[in-house]
Amino acid sequence: MHWFQPGQATPEAERQQRGGISMTGTTPNVDTIICGDCLEEMKKLDPGIFDCVITDPPYSSGTRKEGSKGIRKSMCRAVDDGDWIASDCLTTNGFTWLMRNCAVEWKRVLKPGGHVLCFIDWRMYSVLSGAIESADLRNQAMIIWNKTFFGMGTHFRNQHEIILHFTKGMGSEAQRHDVGNVISIPPIRGGVHPTEKPVELIEKLISVVVPPEGIILDPFIGSGTTAVAARRTGKHFVGIEQEPAYCEIARKRVAAVPASLSKWCENFK
Ligand SMILES: C[S@@+](CC[C@H](N)C(=O)[O-])C[C@H]1O[C@@H](n2cnc3c(N)ncnc32)[C@H](O)[C@@H]1O
Repeated sequence: MHWFQPGQATPEAERQQRGGISMTGTTPNVDTIICGDCLEEMKKLDPGIFDCVITDPPYSSGTRKEGSKGIRKSMCRAVDDGDWIASDCLTTNGFTWLMRNCAVEWKRVLKPGGHVLCFIDWRMYSVLSGAIESADLRNQAMIIWNKTFFGMGTHFRNQHEIILHFTKGMGSEAQRHDVGNVISIPPIRGGVHPTEKPVELIEKLISVVVPPEGIILDPFIGSGTTAVAARRTGKHFVGIEQEPAYCEIARKRVAAVPASLSKWCENFK
């Protein structure tokens, strides 16, 4: 397989070889990091082309009191503050609105039987679950990411995050049957993004639900972990990220994955 650099123009014949993407719409080339607001950018994607959405939105769960979620006493979708991840200071209402609107787009752009795997924590999982369900996606399971050792907390200290699994309709056939719903992989320490996820964890998720040559959408791609995992496992991706600095980091990380590695990993998954 020939790999394209992210953002590089792809001739129709080659693109069709790589998954039969519709040429009639405005979908950008696959294997691309798009810099922009995912709600705006997802509207430009063709319907029914993705095998899976794997994403890690800002959880907006930073505080215990709704009134103190905003930075400098404001509640807002984006802030001009480098220390704050965009959209991470939303109220529960704001988060619900954002995720429900995302889920409507996910349902539209997924193939029938396509999958959604969405990260969240214990505080906001029920809100996220309701928002996704309201877009008529089918609730399949809750996967626990066991970080293998605990972090902050008082009585029972935090050791896990949650990945919600939804499908468009019944859900396509599993690619393998040997993965349980508790996945134990240590977290990233000192990564390039404050909430960077381990590539190995995303690769494990991909290996269960994405067919060979499948296409993955990550509308909150941050530093590009989903794209790196897609490329390493011989899959295709479209990533969207609002912050230009992270778009640049994501593009560099993807470009650094040797094309030959994708086939190697596919053989040894
Ligand atoms: C939790 S982080 C994802 C981190 C990623 N999993 C990684 O490994 O690097 C969420 C990302 O979504 C981005 N974001 C927030 N709101 C967005 C929006 N409306 N459209 C696109 N990206 C957005 C943030 O800038 C942030 O980088």
